Amino acid sequence: MINLFSWSDTLATGFSDIDLQHKKLISIIDDVFQIAQTPDGNYALRMAKALKALTDYTEYHFSEEELFMRSRGYPGFEGHRSQHSDFVGKVNMEIRSLAALGPEDAYIFYRFLGTWLLDHIAKSDKAWAEWIQEQGKGLTRLQFAMDTLLAL
Ligand SMILES: [Fe+2]
Repeated sequence: MINLFSWSDTLATGFSDIDLQHKKLISIIDDVFQIAQTPDGNYALRMAKALKALTDYTEYHFSEEELFMRSRGYPGFEGHRSQHSDFVGKVNMEIRSLAALGPEDAYIFYRFLGTWLLDHIAKSDKAWAEWIQEQGKGLTRLQFAMDTLLAL
């Protein structure tokens, strides 16, 4: 099994808080991979903890992103939010059906998580980030930074 997903600058949205949250999510997904690589006596407990961290942090991150997008009036907001809720639905279903994830199943799940997240960041998140940046072009750097801080 190989590690397939990592952060790269091409994923940057230009909003540092959001980028940090994306890095954290990639690192939680990597924990799922690392645990699948080292199935010891504590495997089930370690995996359960990682999956809990994944669902908790995903929920937090999506709500932050949605708040930000909505506060800026992003026109693709509804579509973006439904991508988030589809993902949450799939993750919850997988976690339930794979309650006792074996390492092979965990690796398949890991591939799904990483593929979805990196594709979502590269396409959908960058789309809203570019739109917001485009809207901010008439503002001074300071106004834009203040608006961003207030929106987050
Ligand atoms: Fe998103």
